[in-house]
Amino acid sequence: MTVAPDHLWRHFTPAGAAPIVIDRAEGCHIYDTEGNRYLDALAALYCVNIGYGPYPEIAEAARAQLERLPFFTNWVGFATPPALELTEKLSDLVPIDVGRIFLVSGGSEAVEAALKVARQYHRLRGEPTRYKYITRRSAYHGTTMGAISINGSPSLRAQFEPLLPGCLRAPMPYRYRCPYCSDKSACTLRCADEVDDIIRNEDPSTVAAVIMEPVQNSAGSIVPPEGYFQRIREICDAHGVLLVADEVICGFGRVGDWFGTTRYGIEPDMMTMAKGLTSAYAPLGALVASTKVIEPFFSDPKTMLIHGITFGGHPLSCAIALANLEVFERDDLIGHVREMTPLFREEFGRLADEHPMIGDLRGDGCFYSFELVKDKQTKATFTPAERDELIKTFFVPRARELGVYMRVDDRAETAAQFSPPLVSGREELDEFLGVFRQVLDEAYERFV
Ligand SMILES: Cc1ncc(COP(=O)(O)O)c(C=O)c1O
Repeated sequence: MTVAPDHLWRHFTPAGAAPIVIDRAEGCHIYDTEGNRYLDALAALYCVNIGYGPYPEIAEAARAQLERLPFFTNWVGFATPPALELTEKLSDLVPIDVGRIFLVSGGSEAVEAALKVARQYHRLRGEPTRYKYITRRSAYHGTTMGAISINGSPSLRAQFEPLLPGCLRAPMPYRYRCPYCSDKSACTLRCADEVDDIIRNEDPSTVAAVIMEPVQNSAGSIVPPEGYFQRIREICDAHGVLLVADEVICGFGRVGDWFGTTRYGIEPDMMTMAKGLTSAYAPLGALVASTKVIEPFFSDPKTMLIHGITFGGHPLSCAIALANLEVFERDDLIGHVREMTPLFREEFGRLADEHPMIGDLRGDGCFYSFELVKDKQTKATFTPAERDELIKTFFVPRARELGVYMRVDDRAETAAQFSPPLVSGREELDEFLGVFRQVLDEAYERFV
C-alpha cells in the first residue's frame, strides 16, 4: 500500500520526526508499511487490551449495528439499545453503587464530564463555592482544556495558560524518591495526608473533587501503598469532597482486575474510563456516577446535567464495547493477567536487580515501569539534555529497530514501560526482555 504525503498533523509529534505508518496488526504485533514487524509493548497507547486478534465476532457486531442503526443520539431524551445494554453491563462490573453512566468518546471527555458533574453537583446541593480540583503531580488526565488544567505536568500546561483556576496538586505516593518516607521501611501515608493539608489550607468549602488514577501512569506506574486510597477516602468524606478514580488506563484488566478500584479496594464517587472499554476498536469513554452523585440531578424532574457530546455513546462504539467485554469474559483475560503477574514480577525483578541502569521497578498486573538511573547507589538521574538524547534519539528508536514498540516516559524521571496487550504471555515477555536488555546494555555503555 502506498501512502501519499502528508497532511496528517500527528499528536505529540516533533516537527522533525520521521513518520512511521502502521498498516496492519495481529495478536500482539504491529506491521508498518515497509513490512517491519514490532512487538507492541504499549498496547498502542495502553488501550488495545485484547490485542489485535483478529476477532471476527467484533467485526460482526460492528457490521450488524451499522446495518440496523448506524447512529442515533443519547441527547434530549433519546437512547439506543447498545448504549442501554452497555451501561447495564458496566453497572454490574464496577464496584460502586451506580446511579447513572454518562457516555462520551474518549478519556479526556470522560474527565471533562467528571469535572463538570462535580461542580454542578455542589451547586445543586447549595454549595456553589466548591470549584477546585486536586490531582497529583505529574499525573496525566488528558489534553482538552479542563483535563489539561488538572494535569500535573507543567510542560504540558505551559503553552495554554491561563487555564481553569483552582487546580491544585498533591504529591504522588512515590516510594523511590519520596521526600517523606523513602528512607523508612514502609510508607507513612504522609503523601495522602498532604491532600488533607491542601484542602484545609484552601478552605474545604472551595474544593469540589479529588481526581486520581489507581496506578498513576505518568512518572511510571506509581502503585498506591497499602491504605493510601482508604486514607484519601476518609479525607474526602471529612471535607465533603468527591473522589474520582480515573480508570482510563487501569480499567479493563490492566492492573489484573476489572478496575484499579476493584484491585485496590477504592471507593470512588465517580469513575472515568475509556481505552480498554472497547480495547480501542472504536472510540468510547464513560463517566460512572454513584447514586450519591446523581441524587441532586434526579431529585427534581426539571433538573439536568448541562453537558452533551454528539458522538458520546455512539451505538457502533457501544456494540463494539459489548463484543469486547464478551471476549474479556469468554477468554478470561483478567484471569490470564493474574496468572502472568508473578512471572512478570519475577523476570522484571531479576532484571532490575542485575542491571546497573535500573533504579526502581514499579507496577502491577500487565503494567510496569523501570526507572532508569545513572547510578543505582545514589539514584543519580539524567540531566534534561541527557534525557532527551537517551530517550528520543537512542532508546525508543533503537528498541524499534530491534523490533519492539515501547515507551520511555519522561514526564517526571525516566521510566521505561511495559504495558502490552493483556493477551501477552511468556513468548511476548521473552521477546520484550531480549530487546530491552540489549538496549539497556547499549544505553549504559553510551550514557553512563
Ligand atoms: C489516566 C488518563 N486519563 C485520561 C486520558 C485521556 O484520554 P484520551 O487520550 O482518550 O482523551 C488518558 C490518556 O492517556 C489517561 O492516561
